[in-house]
Amino acid sequence: MSLLDYIDQDRLPKHIAIIMDGNGRWATNKGFERGEGHKEGVRAISRVVEAASKASVQYLTLYAFSTENWNRPAEEVNGLMDLMVYAISEETEKLKKNGVKITCIGDMARLPEYARTALTECIRQTEKGTRITLNIALSYSSKWELTEATKRITEDVVNGVLSKDDISEETISMYLTTRGIPDPDLLIRTGGEQRISNFLLWQCAYAEFFFTEVYWPDFGEKDLYEAIIDFQGRERRFGKISEQIEFNNVESKPDKEQ
Ligand code: FPP
Repeated sequence: MSLLDYIDQDRLPKHIAIIMDGNGRWATNKGFERGEGHKEGVRAISRVVEAASKASVQYLTLYAFSTENWNRPAEEVNGLMDLMVYAISEETEKLKKNGVKITCIGDMARLPEYARTALTECIRQTEKGTRITLNIALSYSSKWELTEATKRITEDVVNGVLSKDDISEETISMYLTTRGIPDPDLLIRTGGEQRISNFLLWQCAYAEFFFTEVYWPDFGEKDLYEAIIDFQGRERRFGKISEQIEFNNVESKPDKEQ
């Protein structure tokens, strides 16, 4: 029996977000250049997309490059851009065949033109994928996203497109880069650190967090399924009390034994 058999298909996280951390330490510990860790990280992405898709997860958002990552040494930044373009060119056909739809969130304008072009082409070629949406956060940070959303909301209010009194939580969600994507149910961070690092701050308001010591290049199917099974053992109360949640679960499942 595989771990997949222990996953309850009725309580799947619809959207999993992952902070892929630990590439550099993985490489350094093995005496390699940091870039080797990123290369191995791409292989982990491939494994995890396949595993998530097998488990019928509908959305997977990966934090590939943060706004703050632009401050890394130029050599590492350029290496990451080249690696991304190489991975896209190698993987697009397979992604298409496997029904993976690629979407991207982040400040695309900051990417070098060759990277932006490759990414746009991959998004276009995979747009009909229906099995899983792989959303890549690139040049992304939550504070950047919220600042941009605030500017656009203000602009629309000033121009009379939007009334101040009509601004609700839903309105704000509509101005975010994740518009149309459900909020993550589960946020995984690899590499042993326990922080959110400016990632999906608004969207993770009620996400369950799962931290693991495993470095991203070592992360695979088994680790993903363990995180999902752990998630399924949690009670998500969304501010309510236990009794209300139990009542709702029984009410919404008429065939469930009481
Ligand atoms: C974190 O490890 C990882 C990153 C900053 C980059 C993640 C990118 C990839 C896995 C590959 C390229 C992306 C795509 C979309 C193909 P770290 O370098 O911060 O590790 P450390 O904390 O051990 O130093």
